[in-house]
Amino acid sequence: MNVAQNIVAGLDRILTMELVRVTERAAVAAARLRGRGDEKAADQVAVDAMRQELNRLSIRGTVVIGEGERDEAPMLYIGEEVGSGKGPAVDIALDPLEGTTICAKNLPNALAVIAIAEKGSLLFAPDVYMDKIAIGPGYADGVIDIDASPAENIASLARAKGVAISDITTCILDRPRHAKLIDAVRATGAAIRLIGDGDVAGVIHTTDPEETGIDIYLGTGGAPEGVLAAAALRCTGGQMQGRLILDTPEKVARAAKMGISNPKRVYRTEDMARGDVLFAATGVTDGNMLAGVKFGHNYITTHTIVLRSSSRTVREIKARHQDLDKF
Ligand code: FBP
Repeated sequence: MNVAQNIVAGLDRILTMELVRVTERAAVAAARLRGRGDEKAADQVAVDAMRQELNRLSIRGTVVIGEGERDEAPMLYIGEEVGSGKGPAVDIALDPLEGTTICAKNLPNALAVIAIAEKGSLLFAPDVYMDKIAIGPGYADGVIDIDASPAENIASLARAKGVAISDITTCILDRPRHAKLIDAVRATGAAIRLIGDGDVAGVIHTTDPEETGIDIYLGTGGAPEGVLAAAALRCTGGQMQGRLILDTPEKVARAAKMGISNPKRVYRTEDMARGDVLFAATGVTDGNMLAGVKFGHNYITTHTIVLRSSSRTVREIKARHQDLDKF
């Protein structure tokens, strides 16, 4: 039985809620190490917590976007089988702690993230960089084009939104490799929000510009993060385009092993995340869309967004956890 069939059986609706527990646990684990300056430790506890919770789910899951390739990641590596071994066969893209440095510095927008789709539906992307462009829902196809200049994309978006270019805000990772991009965007008169890390959040923020202030995401970040962000946009209706940066023969060969024959291919949202997709993200640190984990006297609160592509439902779940033994 696949995820599509499970809609009929109502199983995927249960999975939607189960996913929330998975990202909640990972987020709480990581949050205990916020601001401690130790990226690795925070990532490790998030990985452990996510894996433990994932293995309770009634799925036959295969990690397609995970902590790394099998030889470099002991847990939640690409190809690892997770879940109880009973239930639908699904692909899983995950990042137990997206923004390890953000968490270590206790800055905004660190997340615990997961996406599930029917088997064979998520792009099996190598851990290389990806050029990305993304906007939120409500725009006609063709408003953005990864091969157009930043000025053309921003002008096109401003026209489609019915605002001046100076009213558009672009989100870009603050990296030396983006110096030219930043200059080009500034030359248009548009605003830039430079983020230190965390482009899954950066892309997702385009889906709710009124809340986040972000209209368009531009620049180069991790390909695995690109697939995760595309999964979220599939569920909310935004548009994303990505192209892997396969600039050495070694990277081309690695990608080929994962079934990527055209190294210059442009992937659209639905090429990266097809079919029925479920997505969940829990805030680790406070952010523009999600509050971070709060540790109360006798309880813990978490804030999660959970999305389903088949219904386009966007649920926000603020949970108060009192059974602290579970965490
Ligand atoms: P980690 O959670 O693995 O630290 O990734 C954070 C991140 O900022 C991603 O959101 C982004 O896609 C990638 O790193 C960018 O890579 P780089 O830091 O090499 O520019």
